[in-house]
Amino acid sequence: MSEPILEVENLKKTFRKRNREKEERGKDRFRGGGETFAAVDGVSFSVAKGESLGLIGESGSGKSTTARMAAGLLRPDAGEIRFYGRHRQMVFQDPMRALDPRMTVLQSIEEGLLYESGGRSREQIRRQALEAMELVRLPQSYAGRRSRELSGGECQRATIARAILIRPELLICDEVTSALDVSVQAQIMELLNRLRRELGLSILFISHDIALVGGFCSRAAVMYQGKIVEMGETRELLRHPREAYTRRLLEAVPDFSKEEEK
Ligand SMILES: Nc1ncnc2c1ncn2[C@@H]1O[C@H](COP(=O)(O)OP(=O)(O)OP(=O)(O)O)[C@@H](O)[C@H]1O
Ligand SMILES: [Mg+2]
Repeated sequence: MSEPILEVENLKKTFRKRNREKEERGKDRFRGGGETFAAVDGVSFSVAKGESLGLIGESGSGKSTTARMAAGLLRPDAGEIRFYGRHRQMVFQDPMRALDPRMTVLQSIEEGLLYESGGRSREQIRRQALEAMELVRLPQSYAGRRSRELSGGECQRATIARAILIRPELLICDEVTSALDVSVQAQIMELLNRLRRELGLSILFISHDIALVGGFCSRAAVMYQGKIVEMGETRELLRHPREAYTRRLLEAVPDFSKEEEK
């Protein structure tokens, strides 16, 4: 494999189990012991420069927790994260919530550089933000709009523009199309594909949608209960899954193998 941009080794994250009964009775769930569980339990993988690695697995398997640690947003309890670039950015599932409703689209995008301006002037930041809008194909006439005046797909373009503003080497996409309708999903995937080519981005791509991962990622890892149970070339993995769990996940997309053979 070519040079890595990200390597994670034996990542672990434990959370306290939430006790619904106690919560309902109004007791503080953070006080007084409580059982813990490993949301991420010894996860290792690497992403090569220019690669898109897929991460799939059922709800609660630990994908977002892994993503947040890989992005440097959450501290692991154990393990190592080696990032060989300067910037990594995360894009989330719900674009409406990711944008401040009080800000204009342009202000939201500029925010991506305000705290790490690297000596850029306000004008330079503005120019770069307008360029980012162009890269994600958001018309400049949208610059003064607020998030409520955008469609879900347009909001997601704006959050992607904000994420690429600082020119990250790695983008961590956590279910970025899950809140969108299928036709808009396809446009966002096309956008990510283009950015990957034009900016040489590496991507960690998390999705419930195995068919999307199949089309977008050359390699993928399958998570189950905090662990990676299978990892490899996506085509192989989807056609000949070794693990029963991966096979069960694939049963949700029965025509996938036929799609692949086209
Ligand atoms: N801050 C937290 N405190 C306590 N438990 C948490 C916290 N964040 C996540 N969890 C729990 O950790 C487990 C893994 O969550 P995570 O969000 O990583 O799963 P996921 O694979 O992303 O699921 P989904 O596909 O639904 O997004 C879940 O059981 C979740 O409830
Ligand atoms: Mg998640």
